[in-house]
Amino acid sequence: MKFFVDTADTAAIKELNDLGMVDGVTTNPSLILKSGRDIIEVTKEICDMVSGPVSAEVVALEAKAMIAEGLKLSKIAPNIAIKVPLTWDGLTACKAFASEGLKVNVTLCFSAAQAILAAKAGAAFISPFIGRIDDIHYDGTDLIEDIRIIYDNYAFETEILAASVRSVNHVIDCAKIGADVVTAPPSVIKSMASHVLTDKGLDQFMKDWAKTGQKII
Ligand code: E4P
Repeated sequence: MKFFVDTADTAAIKELNDLGMVDGVTTNPSLILKSGRDIIEVTKEICDMVSGPVSAEVVALEAKAMIAEGLKLSKIAPNIAIKVPLTWDGLTACKAFASEGLKVNVTLCFSAAQAILAAKAGAAFISPFIGRIDDIHYDGTDLIEDIRIIYDNYAFETEILAASVRSVNHVIDCAKIGADVVTAPPSVIKSMASHVLTDKGLDQFMKDWAKTGQKII
């Protein structure tokens, strides 16, 4: 399972990347806003740091304009994945990019039907947003499961990139289902290391060690 980091915070990406936890990065217009940085500048910095795919999202809504924006974004670095929304125009742009050999991440996917179209249009990644599905009281991981079955039935090569991941349980569920990639905020990835019994056990070991009066160094 690949880990992408869902952020444009370069310090957070560096910390995880130095530990070998980063297989790629996803950004979106909201994350660029949060970073307070220029999209081209911050995306270039991320691409220089991370060797895997870095998703940069177009903001045009019409296919021709999306293609122009995507081509500009693709020039930032060879590891750019152009992110397009799952609309008819987005699928049109996806097909055009894929025909040029460019990697495309089709984002804002909320149904298996949409995921089929993205695969047919040559997407390298499909991004189902599981947290936002949970927000409207459905189960986002059911969608990952449906897409996994469908893609496996037909050997579609598009990778399932579980997005809008909000918790450690989301990551575990996606891993059990067999999502190819999970993109999660740095806080979720870091909280995967926490367990109350680890803290409790460590506390007991420290207390007992102090009672021995010994030192290792
Ligand atoms: C994915 O590529 C998106 O950037 C992201 O996962 C959206 O997550 P959110 O629903 O928490 O904004």
